[in-house]
Amino acid sequence: MRGTQLFDLKEKIAVVTGASSGLGRGAATLLAAHGVKVVAIGRREKTLTAWSLSTKGETFVLAADLSDRSALADIAGEAAQPFGNPDILINAAGINTRQPADKMTDEYWDLTQNLNVAAPFFLAKALVPGMRSKGWGRIINFASLQSKRAFKNGISYGTSKGAVEQMTRAMAEAWSPDGITANSIAPGFFPTELTESVFSDPELSARNAAQTCIGRNGEIHDMEGPMIFFCSNASNYITGQTLFVDGGYTAK
Ligand SMILES: NC(=O)c1ccc[n+]([C@@H]2O[C@H](COP(=O)([O-])OP(=O)(O)OC[C@H]3O[C@@H](n4cnc5c(N)ncnc54)[C@H](OP(=O)(O)O)[C@@H]3O)[C@@H](O)[C@H]2O)c1
Repeated sequence: MRGTQLFDLKEKIAVVTGASSGLGRGAATLLAAHGVKVVAIGRREKTLTAWSLSTKGETFVLAADLSDRSALADIAGEAAQPFGNPDILINAAGINTRQPADKMTDEYWDLTQNLNVAAPFFLAKALVPGMRSKGWGRIINFASLQSKRAFKNGISYGTSKGAVEQMTRAMAEAWSPDGITANSIAPGFFPTELTESVFSDPELSARNAAQTCIGRNGEIHDMEGPMIFFCSNASNYITGQTLFVDGGYTAK
């Protein structure tokens, strides 16, 4: 396969969760620019609609709360309506409620596990039959530094992100025989709504940058290469893996 074909995504159909901000929005914008038809999911309909109107390419907005597990199969069904069965699922929606372990509540625990772990799985489960019928599919999950490391006040988030890494292997085991790969991207520190409390503290932000090998925190465009790679034929023989896009944070 030639270089250009390796990375060609034209006419593919993608569902991107967490598309209303941060890394999910970055992925949705990137894919639309590469000729992918994008179904963008998040709760903030107005924000998504404004994004869709200002984005080149074919996009469709689906406002939905992914923390309600009982709704996920229907949401996946709706996501397949505008353009047909999706080829690519990007599971970027996520939250970090940052409770200390001793103050963790049932409510925040369940919300975190539902949104960060159950939603990616049950959306994938509902979309896999469509991918299987094409003999090709891509599932990209978002793991974290906290898939490997324990951070302060990270008990529920870190648990969920450890689970995402293992779930990615299990997805690969279950679905890659049908041509569907499942991989995770584990970002270092990127400035988004999720990390506002980190980046609003200049000292902490500088410490995080210094912990990387490259010497700076992430920028949204740093995700573009890995995202195209995992979505395209360039990663045909890679599945069940987690790629740390962290400037070498975990190398030190
Ligand atoms: N930024 C980082 O440094 C970093 C580091 C490691 C891992 N990550 C992971 O990367 C992914 C993207 O994070 P981000 O940094 O881009 O965060 P973000 O800007 O806060 O985006 C989170 C997205 O999740 C959506 N979301 C939250 N609750 C939802 C719900 N109940 N139903 C549907 N959608 C919901 C939000 O949309 P609505 O509010 O419109 O629903 C938003 O679009 C997450 O999985 C995160 O854990 C990020």
